[in-house]
Amino acid sequence: MNILGIETSCDETAASIVTDGRIVRSNIIWSQADLHKLFGGVVPEIAARKHVEAIVPTVRQALSEAEMTLDDVDAIAVTAGPGLIGALLTGVSYAKGLAKASGLPLIPVHHITGHVAANYIQFPELEPPFVCLIASGGHSHIVYVEDYASFSILARTRDDAAGEAFDKISRAIGLGYPGGPLIDKVAKFGDPHKYVFPKTTFPDGNLDFSFSGLKTAALNFINQRQLKADARDLDADTVRPEIADFCASYQYAIVNVLSERAVEACLASGSKHLALAGGVAANSALRQLLQERSAAHGIEFYVPPPVLCTDNAAMIASMAYYLEPMSDYGRLDAKASVALPVKERE
Ligand code: KG4
Ligand code: ZN
Repeated sequence: MNILGIETSCDETAASIVTDGRIVRSNIIWSQADLHKLFGGVVPEIAARKHVEAIVPTVRQALSEAEMTLDDVDAIAVTAGPGLIGALLTGVSYAKGLAKASGLPLIPVHHITGHVAANYIQFPELEPPFVCLIASGGHSHIVYVEDYASFSILARTRDDAAGEAFDKISRAIGLGYPGGPLIDKVAKFGDPHKYVFPKTTFPDGNLDFSFSGLKTAALNFINQRQLKADARDLDADTVRPEIADFCASYQYAIVNVLSERAVEACLASGSKHLALAGGVAANSALRQLLQERSAAHGIEFYVPPPVLCTDNAAMIASMAYYLEPMSDYGRLDAKASVALPVKERE
């Protein structure tokens, strides 16, 4: 079964063909990051307009790289939410039009569950149940994946998402957007234990996250020392130690708590399988720390390559394969939604 996936929830216009949920035939990602960089973050209105321009050529390229036409495609999958409403609407409207014109069924996909499915592409043997830490620009969740389409939340952030914590501080110190990859890069030159930033914990074994206290502490640190990063700090030969140590220590504060709680969630739920997903899953320190901590507890650790961690359409096509071919499979009332619910675990 060949599924054409379409993703436009934020600032990547993406299209991909995936066979049987696991084999990627093409994976086209047209990133708008260079454009939004000028503004220090994603401008929703600009993102939506750029999706309109890019969607047709992106889908055409996905078909041509897969050496397919629409006749070879069995269904169209599209991110229905959560995300930026104007950006989502572009993908959903386009996918609905294409489904109507081609007679193909349409499968709306929850973006966050799509991130989880990136693991199915990289690990063809991986099947639920397992625990998944999903850390992206808008979400930080630990979920229990009971079945392909059945998730329950074990922990969530009470305020900022992990990706936001990277992006906001990157902007504050002058590294720019997107913050995660830039802090990751500069952190490689520094000492992660040079400075200790606060960690928020909640009582009674609650595994939720909170990054707002950490963010404030980091802002105070930057202001008090008048830290200002620039292009020199992106190079090992010219980087200034205080900037590198700050980035490494701040990054450590985020990835330490994420990895610690993900492992705790596995221990509490009795799962021996832990997957990592979402844009922050591309972070080198998080990947390494989770690898080490999972191994120390006999937990099997899964993480997709960075290109499948950040927004892409292959993960959407993969997830769609596991969704029920319902009677309203090709329904045209499928809407885009800023927030889509995931049930809580009792
Ligand atoms: O999943 P994603 O591509 O989009 C959303 O669904 O939000 O995640 C984007 C987030 C951004 O906050 C970005 O800074 C972060 O993922 N990110 C990283 C890295 N690469 C992307 N954060 C830390 N380290 C990275 N290497
Ligand atoms: Zn995402």
